[in-house]
Amino acid sequence: MTKDTGFTSMAGPKAEGALPRVGVGMLGYAFMGKAHTKAYKKIPDMMYPPPAVPRLVAICGRDGEAVAEAARRYGYESAYTDWRVMLEDDRIQLFDNGGPNNVHAEPCIAAAQAGKHIICEKPLARTAAEAKDMLDAVEHAGVKHMVAFNYRFVPAIRQARELIERGALGRIYHYRAVYLQEWVMAHYDLPRIWRLDKSVAGSGALGDLGAHIIDLARFLVGEITSVGAMTRTFIGERPLPEGSGTGKVEGDDAFVSVVEFENGAVGTLEATRFAGGRKNHQVIEINGEKGSICFDLERMNELQVYWVDEEPKETQGFRNVLVTEGYHPWWENWWPHGHIIGWEHTFVHELTHLLDCIVNDGDVAPYGATFEDGYRAAVVCDAILESAASRRQVDVAYS
Ligand SMILES: NC(=O)c1ccc[n+]([C@@H]2O[C@H](COP(=O)([O-])OP(=O)(O)OC[C@H]3O[C@@H](n4cnc5c(N)ncnc54)[C@H](O)[C@@H]3O)[C@@H](O)[C@H]2O)c1
Repeated sequence: MTKDTGFTSMAGPKAEGALPRVGVGMLGYAFMGKAHTKAYKKIPDMMYPPPAVPRLVAICGRDGEAVAEAARRYGYESAYTDWRVMLEDDRIQLFDNGGPNNVHAEPCIAAAQAGKHIICEKPLARTAAEAKDMLDAVEHAGVKHMVAFNYRFVPAIRQARELIERGALGRIYHYRAVYLQEWVMAHYDLPRIWRLDKSVAGSGALGDLGAHIIDLARFLVGEITSVGAMTRTFIGERPLPEGSGTGKVEGDDAFVSVVEFENGAVGTLEATRFAGGRKNHQVIEINGEKGSICFDLERMNELQVYWVDEEPKETQGFRNVLVTEGYHPWWENWWPHGHIIGWEHTFVHELTHLLDCIVNDGDVAPYGATFEDGYRAAVVCDAILESAASRRQVDVAYS
């Protein structure tokens, strides 16, 4: 059935006043704090009628002056300098963790114990053991939980999942994914920011970029059963951000991996921040018995498809589908076809789904990533590091 495009469904019947409100407490006000906040602000009018209206209750950071300014700028009612105190605020039902990776476990576990629903940025944790403690805490508390694997919420990716689910590609043979960035990481004088500090980040390009393509591997193809991998740190020492001396870089600047899936498919994964010229180059190709699909994040409104049996043979080849019709995932909320959306809108979809699950007691899985998915991605990351260290193929085992 053809759904209306955004053009004809821009207004809905429900008045905002009739909708439930969900109070949000945000940790962090930099990159992800900003991305999530912008999404919360877009939901009430763009996802109209929204499942709930997010109420920006409080934001937390360590620097009192800076967090007060962030609250003013983004429109939060209160600012806190200690997440423990923020979690005592009864106006908050949803805790949003946009802090660095070492500030994921403790606040999320405390939030679960306080009965808050949780969205936590990826990677869920620095290690699988840490992620498992977080999973146990949310399951014990019975709260809704989501890991911000936002690329599941790109309409083209969700469309790819639906095609695979309904068997359009037949048996899957290959999953091939790269996530390449250039950053300024390649410069020797770049300080050892938190992403380069293993004690804070857990790993390097693996947890930062690799976790996304590992999650998409599981989302699109299925469970990974074994991995072989190699990691490399190209610049092993960097100036400390505080400006006194240098510190070791122990996380991976790059990793490459071969993987096996439960369903018999094989895959390759690669991520680096040292790919000069590559800005946000996440490219995924899946080859199946009946066809192939290919996705490029820098052209995120498109999906390339190829059908093995397409006629006439003379014009067969990959073609670009613009995933912007009203019948494509999430599109009924946006614009007329061809009026494209961007990276930030993945968070609008992700948080709308979570709010819906909270107020209607829905399931975050399978289309959203839960802490179970975050834990499973962390198990694969740990196995990749183990394989690189031992120079052997490693079986992936979930507890
Ligand atoms: N989903 C994505 O596409 C995506 C993209 C970038 C980052 N991330 C993830 O988001 C998380 C945050 O990354 P970022 O790029 O926003 O980092 P960032 O450095 O830009 O921001 C981190 C924020 O956390 C705050 N913070 C740090 N320690 C704190 C503490 N103890 N208490 C309160 N606040 C604290 C900092 O002040 C800052 O506001 C990371 O886990 C990262 O991997 C996800």
